[in-house]
Amino acid sequence: MRKNIEAFIFDLDGVITDTAELHYLAWKNMADREGYTFNRAINEKLRGVSRRASLEIILAGLKISEEKILTLMEEKNTEYKELLETLTSKDILDGVMELLNELKKRGIKVALASASKNAVPILKKLEIFDLFDAIGDGNCVERAKPAPDVFIHAAGQLQIAVSRCLVVEDAEAGVLGAIDCGMSSVGIGPHERVGAADFVFETPGDINLYEVLGN
Ligand code: BG6
Ligand code: MG
Repeated sequence: MRKNIEAFIFDLDGVITDTAELHYLAWKNMADREGYTFNRAINEKLRGVSRRASLEIILAGLKISEEKILTLMEEKNTEYKELLETLTSKDILDGVMELLNELKKRGIKVALASASKNAVPILKKLEIFDLFDAIGDGNCVERAKPAPDVFIHAAGQLQIAVSRCLVVEDAEAGVLGAIDCGMSSVGIGPHERVGAADFVFETPGDINLYEVLGN
């Protein structure tokens, strides 16, 4: 168990809501237009990975110009943002509202640390933006996860020491970032992916605060 935790820092995609399918659809349309191979197995590798790094994974070593990289990222993001229009509070994953409310009740701060540049509009569409005491997203830092920068940014905004922060993550890169900066971590998903975390639960709804915090 982890005593003295003063803040929970949540990843967004795969923890609070599941936008992986929307990312998949937008990347898939781009890949089909361009004749690149892309499927759900490749999409799994994009979990927690920045937009540019995602495109590099899809390109699989294929060299294209910087101008084309920017165009393809822009096209994908335009379509992704259209798909995000369908999001509502119903898309919050099971158990997340209960967890956020319980943390609030305990006086534990709540922050976001997402690789996404669309994190703020997503939180607003989900109608939970106001519950967050601090936001770290893809616009706040240069280096994406596994660099710990976005977590440090969130802790800095909260003015809480990293040793008193706990990260909730579904991506290996995110868990590694949390470990790198000395934060505790809860991994969501299979052990093969997030087994390096201090605690592992299958879904966000399975997070057992008694096991994690000891009370
Ligand atoms: C992460 C997703 O949250 O955000 C990745 O898990 C995504 O799949 C990344 O590539 C960047 O998102 P965006 O919205 O800035 O393209
Ligand atoms: Mg994630």
